[in-house]
Amino acid sequence: MLDIHSHILPKMDDGSKSVEMSLEMLKSSYEQGVTTMVSTSHFYAHHESPDEFLRRRRHAAKKLESLLTDSMPKIRFGAEVLYYPGIAQSEEVRQLHIEGTSLILIEMPFVPWSEKIFDELITFQYNSRLQVVLAHVERYRSIQSRAIYDKLFDQPFYFQMNAEAFTSFFDRRLALSLIDGGLLHFLGTDCHNMTSRSPNMDEARKVIDKKLSPAAWYEITDEMESRFNQHIL
Ligand SMILES: [Fe+2]
Repeated sequence: MLDIHSHILPKMDDGSKSVEMSLEMLKSSYEQGVTTMVSTSHFYAHHESPDEFLRRRRHAAKKLESLLTDSMPKIRFGAEVLYYPGIAQSEEVRQLHIEGTSLILIEMPFVPWSEKIFDELITFQYNSRLQVVLAHVERYRSIQSRAIYDKLFDQPFYFQMNAEAFTSFFDRRLALSLIDGGLLHFLGTDCHNMTSRSPNMDEARKVIDKKLSPAAWYEITDEMESRFNQHIL
């Protein structure tokens, strides 16, 4: 199973705080069936350049490298890139795609959007020849008008939800309706630690087992994995 959104690199962002925590997160993910983990540390263009981010990422990854075992998922490195005005024109940011794939995880800003943001992301997608995956689409809903939020799902992007969406009564209905409409392209845990935001694919699995069927969970996650594989370069 694939987890396309995680913060498992030690001291890279507000995720894992140590090598030990990173290893625990990886082990827990594997026990829940995750075999490929995409490491998507936060990238904020107003804080650092993509080159600086990549240098820090290499450094953090090196600390884990020799400690990885067969009882942990394979890691692919990427980033969770916060949208910023001008992203469509930046060539450097394209380096932050999920390694070995044509996918890039983009976080939308937590302020009300104008429709221009969609236009710029479409231009970014076209210019970069990457496919945009929008991170945790359930998390923006409360700050957008209904009209603009609904337009989100007309855009030519992939939509990712966090596993926890399935455990919240409010978000669960949206999650199940996206599955129904074929618009839930990826699930991720967005795990940051082993306590408040721990690897939690199992929680989503239990809800889908109950609301749909145990077979549905495997169908959904297999489909996500093959969608991901279609973007391997
Ligand atoms: Fe995240």
